[in-house]
Amino acid sequence: MKKPSLNTFVLATTAVLVVVACGSSTPSGLLGGGGPVIPPPNPPPVSGPSRCGEHPWCDVRLSPDERTALLLAELTQAEKISLLGGDNLSGVAGAEGTHTGTGNGIPRVDLPTIYYSDGPMGVRSGMGTALPAPMGLAATWDVALARRYGAMIGDEARNKGNDVVFAPTVDLMRVPMAGRSFEGYGEDPYLSSRMGVAWITGAQSEGVVANAKHYAPNSQEGIGAQPPPELPGVPLGGGVVGGRVSVDARVDDRTLHEIYLAPFEAAVKEAKVGSIMCAYNRLNGQYACENRYLLTDVLRGEWGFKGYVLADYAAAKNPVDSLNNGLDFDPWPGVVLNSNVVTAAVTAGLVSAATLDERVGNMLRTWFAYGVLDRPAYVYDNAQIDQEGHARFAGEVEESALTLLQNDGVLPLDVTKLKTVAIIGVDADKFQKRGGSAGITPFFFNTPREKLTERLTAAGVEVRYDDGSMSSAAVTAATGADVALVFVSDYSIEGSDRPCLSLNCLGDVRDQDALIEAIAAANPNTVVVLETGAPVLTPWRGAVRAILEAWIPGVDAGNAITRVLFGDVDPGGRLPATFPNSEADLPTAGDPMRYPGVGERAEYSEGVLIGYRWFDAMEKTPAFAFGHGLSYTTFDYRNLRVTKSGDTATVRFEVRNSGSRRGREVAQLYLSLPAPSADVPQPPKVLKAFEKLTLAPGESREVTLTLDARAFSYWDVASKSWRITPGCYPVMVGRSSRDLRLTDATTLCR
Ligand code: BGC
Repeated sequence: MKKPSLNTFVLATTAVLVVVACGSSTPSGLLGGGGPVIPPPNPPPVSGPSRCGEHPWCDVRLSPDERTALLLAELTQAEKISLLGGDNLSGVAGAEGTHTGTGNGIPRVDLPTIYYSDGPMGVRSGMGTALPAPMGLAATWDVALARRYGAMIGDEARNKGNDVVFAPTVDLMRVPMAGRSFEGYGEDPYLSSRMGVAWITGAQSEGVVANAKHYAPNSQEGIGAQPPPELPGVPLGGGVVGGRVSVDARVDDRTLHEIYLAPFEAAVKEAKVGSIMCAYNRLNGQYACENRYLLTDVLRGEWGFKGYVLADYAAAKNPVDSLNNGLDFDPWPGVVLNSNVVTAAVTAGLVSAATLDERVGNMLRTWFAYGVLDRPAYVYDNAQIDQEGHARFAGEVEESALTLLQNDGVLPLDVTKLKTVAIIGVDADKFQKRGGSAGITPFFFNTPREKLTERLTAAGVEVRYDDGSMSSAAVTAATGADVALVFVSDYSIEGSDRPCLSLNCLGDVRDQDALIEAIAAANPNTVVVLETGAPVLTPWRGAVRAILEAWIPGVDAGNAITRVLFGDVDPGGRLPATFPNSEADLPTAGDPMRYPGVGERAEYSEGVLIGYRWFDAMEKTPAFAFGHGLSYTTFDYRNLRVTKSGDTATVRFEVRNSGSRRGREVAQLYLSLPAPSADVPQPPKVLKAFEKLTLAPGESREVTLTLDARAFSYWDVASKSWRITPGCYPVMVGRSSRDLRLTDATTLCR
């Protein structure tokens, strides 16, 4: 077990220009309607005296709206304005005992300070449990696990004294080079929605308010100077061309609704997420944090969101437009919505009193609805955290995330047949941390080298380790070993995209492709373990016997990878993102207008053809397809039955473990949607349902998947509504988007 060195990330200083400009009209008020709008966490995780006090608005028999109206009536204008901006500059550095963000309350009325923390794969203040990165969670395709994942982070956030957690990241992976790809759930809106909803439900069940981010679409960081791997976390905001803080994503309304907004819609409607973080970038000309279409028309108008919107750090630009168009809170540095600026805007009549009430009311109502004010303050104390239990959970997630991309039978390893094993690559002996706000400093961790060595030496197997820095020494270590395990990683970071998709990108001083090729030439039994946050190119795959994608594996990496390599458990992962053969196959390839953008405009002109949708539509063969992942056993699919009922359908089929080992399978259902017209193209297939199964040898399971009306719908831009086109909807079921076992092309016709 290893202890880490504390390694906080460095923030690039951001100059914030405060401009008071003419605002647009005030959105209509949303307060005052109906009963409870957001369910409180169930069951409340902490009981104890309410910190609300003895005020009329503390009566829990009243609805959150009623309580909000009472408190608003009590507050002065200056007090209301004081709630709009954050109050802590340095917490973002992530030091122990601090919070990523703070919003001071109002002692006169017993309104407490509200504390905020990152983030999507662990809590980022001092030390915490680093879970496998969200891309790995998505690779589990396990909704129940995603719920527990969110709950574990909710638990740590609460035990570090936080009320709100800045997560999950539900931005879709449009380009695999995007620096924050590891932080999201891959390229499919349905899979991302399922993961996001489960994460939020889990976190909010622990009594913290979740925060779906970054709304939207924050799908690139920009191309710029790549920090060296020795300096993880530096610099944030380094993306220069197409940089996240300025790029204008030009996205048509159908693509927005069907692809990029879908996980946010699910977070709002299904998971009742309490807050949303607006992104740095612009959408169709207007900054996300003052984008009326995003923040008011869609979020509140179409989806009925009743929580509050807060800005990404320094993403708020114009106070008047932000307030009038839907931003409720500017957590850091809190100067765009600072008291002097907002007071001036209100005094000048640029922001109305009703708008001010609406902005503050959105926060108060959420805190009332989630019980934030009706319990004692949470206490920051790492000793309250079940650190060992959380580390074991990280291992459980990782076992289920490990994705076996290729295997000619060399895996699982049989220790009784081994005399010497070579472990090559510094990544075998390292905690994998990625830079930025999702970079977690673990309480403790183990490494693959440590756990493999324990296991092998206990069985009398000789272990040779070489860090791979000098290829000749690594070749010597690998030569003559029964198996060579080569560990490699990518370098991904918030603030700048990878300049290319290979393992040898600029900024990575190691030529890892050459290392793999050299080892494969020296040892015929070479197995590559990838520790990458997103797809990479695998030009050497024909020369190696197996490839195991471990993602960014979290604190129990050593145990989980060892257990899967030895077959104690089946590799449970399936790809949440396509691994291309070459960069030229990507939807954005060869078109700088699409990516990284020209003149700070990025045209999403590939439309809905993101990820496998593009590969299918263009008939391109990926290296490893979306949904792909091998097992140590085999599965049969049979007896597909599709039943239609109005606009919904039920799909039943059987999955049988036809091999001799216990195994995990992800049964995937894809639908082919007819195109309503030539200008509304549909990809050949779209993921609509899935189920993760664990089956004993010979065991069969009947899988029942339901398709609701939305599964058959497209977003009709003209009517601004979901529509179903007449035609047939072939159903395809199988092991991946390119390994379909059963088809029914005729039942679902309308
Ligand atoms: C990131 C957010 C994060 C915030 C606070 C920003 O740079 O984009 O995701 O929550 O920092 O750390």
